[in-house]
Amino acid sequence: MSRFFLTELSIDETILLEKLFEPSKLFFMLNTSKRVNKLIASPIRKFLPMVRAAEKKGVKFFKLNVGDPDIFAPKEILRGIKGYNNRNIPYAPSPGISEHVRAWLKYYALFGIKLKEENIVPTVGGAEGILLALMAVADVGEEIIVFEPLYPSYKGFAAVCNVKLVPITLKLENNFKLPAIQEIAKKINKKTRALVIINPDNPTGKVWSNQELKNIIQLARKNNLFIIADETYREIVFKGKPKSILNFSGARGNTLVVDSLSKRFSAPGIRVGALVSYHQKIMRAILKMAMIRLSVPTVEQLATVAILKNSKKYTSKIANEYRQRRNVVNDALKKMPGVLVSQPAGAFYQVAKLPVKDAEDFIKFLITKFRYKNKSVLVAPLEDFYVSQGLGRNEIRIAYVLNVKELKEALEIFKKGLEQYLKK
Ligand SMILES: Cc1ncc(COP(=O)(O)O)c(C=O)c1O
Repeated sequence: MSRFFLTELSIDETILLEKLFEPSKLFFMLNTSKRVNKLIASPIRKFLPMVRAAEKKGVKFFKLNVGDPDIFAPKEILRGIKGYNNRNIPYAPSPGISEHVRAWLKYYALFGIKLKEENIVPTVGGAEGILLALMAVADVGEEIIVFEPLYPSYKGFAAVCNVKLVPITLKLENNFKLPAIQEIAKKINKKTRALVIINPDNPTGKVWSNQELKNIIQLARKNNLFIIADETYREIVFKGKPKSILNFSGARGNTLVVDSLSKRFSAPGIRVGALVSYHQKIMRAILKMAMIRLSVPTVEQLATVAILKNSKKYTSKIANEYRQRRNVVNDALKKMPGVLVSQPAGAFYQVAKLPVKDAEDFIKFLITKFRYKNKSVLVAPLEDFYVSQGLGRNEIRIAYVLNVKELKEALEIFKKGLEQYLKK
């Protein structure tokens, strides 16, 4: 039944048809845009229906697939939400509630970074920040250099913006170290607009060395490129002090920082992030887009003021906790025959290469077939974290978002699952 056929019918006839058939089936020729058709399901969430089906049958999963930590959010945030006592919930101003923005300034001052209100626009999580950043720096058909494997939202948003991501592949075998700067320079052409740095990195746990950052800053300056620096995990580092790329004075002219409260305050549901830059033109562009989308939630902006002003105690504690978890995960995986791991230095993820052909098939096995005392483990396949086709097929990402005791049990079960899968 074609769309042309439908348009020939009277409204009454259409209503009758809709009673006989499911309404959306009558419009099977009505297509969605090419840009959304290109999108792939999130590699982190795509197994959810299978998981739900197993859970209904009473299977318990240790969920190490999503970056949603079990750690309690700071009590300041919870108090802030409960303490909201205005009877209206008005729109917040598009540039952010001044009290909230000033709290961000205080937060940045802790790192020796002096900002003015005009250097920062709150966003709906880092996720919106990524979208606005890509839209602000690149037009349709232009290019952005990224380091793969990388947080998949960049791929999704680049696809909807019709911006091409040009990947530089980093290797687990050498701990995801940057290649020689000349190799990166080779990827730059007339269409290149920016480089993306995620530091500390999701999924690799890489923390960029000062030298790597300096090299990238120099390259970007020389070629008149923006740097999009995603510092969502800024404080979750296991050695040395947390820092920002804005600590490097050479980066201030052309860098746009994507920031977020989700991970450093174990509050991904709060949906508050920010875009930060000294580049006036880009901040004006971002503010214009922020006006189109109106505002970031009012209650959440107010509820995060206190913790932004006094963040260090909380963030040092969680960094310490994640260091212990990293050790548990890393040590357990290293002992598994045929499993290859890198040494994460930050964030809360571990990439591992498995002695399997297809990690997705193994994950499906863990979800649908393997059980140990009616328990199993969920991890994310890494293939979709790559831009280059065919890479990462035997790799996974583990998010250490459970406590040490649960992690130990989860990894024991994972090991048994892998052994059983390899016997098949
Ligand atoms: C590197 C990175 N950037 C941004 C985000 C987006 O997080 P949110 O929108 O919760 O701030 C994430 C979430 O996992 C991430 O890992």
